[in-house]
Amino acid sequence: MQRNNNMARRLGRRKEPSREKVLLKERELAEGGLNKRVAVYLSKFYNKGVIDGIGTVFAKGKESDIYVASPGTADIVKGEPYVIVKMFRVQNSSFFSMEDYIIGDPRFKKIGRTKQEIIGTWCKKEFGNLEIAQFAGIAAPKPYMYNGNILAMQYIGTDDGPAPRLVDAGLDRTEAESMLRTIIDYTKRLHRRGLVHGDLSEYNILVHGDKPYFIDFGQAVVTRHPHAEEFLKRDVWNVVNYFRKAYGAAMTVDEAYAEVAAAGPRQQSRP
Ligand SMILES: Nc1ncnc2c1ncn2[C@@H]1O[C@H](COP(=O)(O)OP(=O)(O)O)[C@@H](O)[C@H]1O
Ligand SMILES: [Mg+2]
Repeated sequence: MQRNNNMARRLGRRKEPSREKVLLKERELAEGGLNKRVAVYLSKFYNKGVIDGIGTVFAKGKESDIYVASPGTADIVKGEPYVIVKMFRVQNSSFFSMEDYIIGDPRFKKIGRTKQEIIGTWCKKEFGNLEIAQFAGIAAPKPYMYNGNILAMQYIGTDDGPAPRLVDAGLDRTEAESMLRTIIDYTKRLHRRGLVHGDLSEYNILVHGDKPYFIDFGQAVVTRHPHAEEFLKRDVWNVVNYFRKAYGAAMTVDEAYAEVAAAGPRQQSRP
């Protein structure tokens, strides 16, 4: 490397960055550091009054870093204690599996070619899916805005902290029975609106008050997607089996699936 750099200098070419420098940069980005492009995308959230300040990373997902921000002056965030800012990682994201969930979705014929573009499409897709969740009348964060690889949405939780994931919620038997019924009902309502979550599990549901809030809608697909039925079966299987194992719930996967599928997609995904 050193030799190559010396040679490059002699030949008047640009010096290659050292391996340490590259690794440092990758680590910064992987750990939620903000590069210039991200800072530019973020500035729009300040300008629109959706956020006023941003804290440190409070959760790390597979593909994203989640920040808690303070709300700005925009009407949509009025009265909210916080705003959730989800930044999709451009480095280190498994964007090949992202493609699987975008290709086949008739809403996204053009998904872009560069990593940045594909992740932009993914972000837009999660925003659109959260809108459909609102139209379906289920409990899910309200989407506020997106720009580039950044999405702002409603914070689910209290002043004291974010709502726990279902897996950490520690319900009693009666609460669990009613929670499972609501989750099946929400899955049915979404399906009727033409959407399948696609990654529903005890990790992507937050328990707030007595309601299950569905989150993490990036991979959700419209029912016209060729794998929609397969994803729907897997979603139902995941939640019903979780409740059977963790709480001894009596509902079976077949019963639950029959209920969800019977509702059928009655309308297009947009009102
Ligand atoms: N709207 C929200 N309100 C409160 N906490 C949230 C919200 N969205 C995400 N979180 C927290 O951040 C974690 C990761 O978010 P998620 O959307 O599941 O990201 P990933 O796609 O990377 O898995 C969640 O498990 C949850 O604890
Ligand atoms: Mg998740």
